[in-house]
Amino acid sequence: MARATGPGDRVVLETERLVLRSWRPGEGVVLHQLWTERDPRVPPRRRIDNDGHPTVDELEDSIRSDELWATGLLAVERSAEADVIGYCGLVDSGRGAADEPELAFELLTRARGHGYATEAARAVLGWAGSCGHRRVWATVWDWNTASRRVLAKLGFVETGRTEVDPVHGTTLFTTRRP
Ligand SMILES: CC(C)(COP(=O)(O)OP(=O)(O)OC[C@H]1O[C@@H](n2cnc3c(N)ncnc32)[C@H](O)[C@@H]1OP(=O)(O)O)[C@@H](O)C(=O)NCCC(=O)NCCS
Repeated sequence: MARATGPGDRVVLETERLVLRSWRPGEGVVLHQLWTERDPRVPPRRRIDNDGHPTVDELEDSIRSDELWATGLLAVERSAEADVIGYCGLVDSGRGAADEPELAFELLTRARGHGYATEAARAVLGWAGSCGHRRVWATVWDWNTASRRVLAKLGFVETGRTEVDPVHGTTLFTTRRP
């Protein structure tokens, strides 16, 4: 279920076990942990660099200033535990028409394997449909078995692939109607 609440009509999505909502100040530490836990095959620009950037403070600044964390990639909070375990949401895909966003999700290691990503993504796809998006994209590395399985469960189908390099692997492009 999706409902718009509060100032600026920020979206809140509720599922059986989760609440998806804007990131809050103080939660940069969760984003930092996500960065820290990333697979070594993830490209360097999305990993903590040798000087320790982005820092928790830099990620805090990003939560305060970047609309992405307010209306794009929503914080995934477990209702019972009241803890934030990652993000799930929509970003500009740069593919297809302007109203064809990209689904993205990432969870802390400790929260994986319980169906949370699939549950969160289903809510986001419902939201995308209610917003009038006719198609949603998702890109995934060929080696990312868990993410590929989530996308398959959601009904995404592959439309193409690009071999990036032997270290990072091949990117698969997938799509689905919300
Ligand atoms: C991808 C990710 C979000 C999945 O989160 P999750 O909550 O564990 O996902 P779910 O539990 O909803 O589904 C995972 C599915 O993959 C399967 N899976 C997980 N690891 C697997 C592996 N190594 N081999 C085969 N299947 C695997 C699970 O069994 C489950 O399938 P099932 O329901 O048929 O049993 C999580 O692994 C993650 O954050 N990874 C790093 C970030 C990332 O890859 N983001 C996506 C970028 S495209």
